[in-house]
Amino acid sequence: MATLARELAEIEESGTYTNFGPKNALLEARLTERVFGGRGGCVTCVNATTGLMLAIRHEMRTGRRYALLPSFTFPASAHAAIWNGLTPLFCDIDQETWLADEGSETILLDAHRDEIAVVVPQATFGNCVDLDRYAALSRFYDVPVVVDAAPAIGSQSTDGLQFGAGSTFPIVFSMHATKAFATDEGGIIHSGREELVAALRSMTNFGFGSPRVSTMPGLNGKLTELGALLALVKLDEIEAVLEAREQLVVAYRGELGGLRFQQPQGVRQAHQFVPVHVRGLDRAGRDELVARIDEQGIEVATYFSPHLAEHPYFQANSVAGQLRVTQVIADGIVSLPMHDGMSTHDVRRVAMAVQSARASLSTSISMAASDPPVE
Ligand SMILES: Cc1ncc(COP(=O)(O)O)c(C=O)c1O
Repeated sequence: MATLARELAEIEESGTYTNFGPKNALLEARLTERVFGGRGGCVTCVNATTGLMLAIRHEMRTGRRYALLPSFTFPASAHAAIWNGLTPLFCDIDQETWLADEGSETILLDAHRDEIAVVVPQATFGNCVDLDRYAALSRFYDVPVVVDAAPAIGSQSTDGLQFGAGSTFPIVFSMHATKAFATDEGGIIHSGREELVAALRSMTNFGFGSPRVSTMPGLNGKLTELGALLALVKLDEIEAVLEAREQLVVAYRGELGGLRFQQPQGVRQAHQFVPVHVRGLDRAGRDELVARIDEQGIEVATYFSPHLAEHPYFQANSVAGQLRVTQVIADGIVSLPMHDGMSTHDVRRVAMAVQSARASLSTSISMAASDPPVE
């Protein structure tokens, strides 16, 4: 933190620690310019979960029941829906991209046509969602869309632009420490609709209009000046971070050719860690594999397993469609480590630990590379 002594002194001198102070104003301007290519606008918030709560609240069709989202994701969007009085309605995922499956979404949209208040696609693990498809879906079913793009600052869609840049939808990003764009806590809501960004800014500040009275639903969701400062520093580093992480993914793919990686959409993915699907495992086999990797001093995780429809709170408060692919992917998923201090030598070490853990398990696992595909 000593390296930021001058900038911290500037915050002290300004006497403004929050409430959209000078660091935050600079951050929003730079994000709009450098990340979103000058399109639309953005408002920061205290974290992405709060951003999702507010964006869903602003966009959702009142009088309808459901928020449609995939079960294979982090709990934040489902919680945000429930805080808005909605019931999560979980769809399945595509077996290659691990994004919401179009066919599964369509079945649920047709079955609950006038009951879906909002659709919440997920840019899972930073993968780019096809926003043109959601624009068509939104028009056809007359349903709003809010995008959970938490890990995707730095992901670029096929047009070479930041994912979501200029979109008519609110696109919600996270700056949580687990993301490539890591600070401590923080969120960004971007949209090409500047009036929407202005409304969401009021909503992060008690719904205050001008004069300072509440004119719409709101809460305290503002990013602090310290949070904005950390994000300004990260903004200067992010291209190098993304490039280094891409090299690590290339190394992982080279070392672990027998495993299934997520099929990337778009031209660049901001990687937060490296999820791989180990075919032929049931949940217990996957957990045993994770334990054997851990025994070798390598810490791995299992995002997003259990998937949301398996969490006790969501079992009691949501409705699920058919989740066959979700179940298969969630049973065999392992998230391999990635952090900014890592080298390709470290990747080799992790890969060796994974391979030796697989070899020490039953033959069903060592034969997994030749298993039939999910469908
Ligand atoms: C897919 C997804 N959505 C939302 C969030 C929530 O972000 P935040 O921690 O900034 O609230 C996360 C956080 O890990 C996430 O992975």
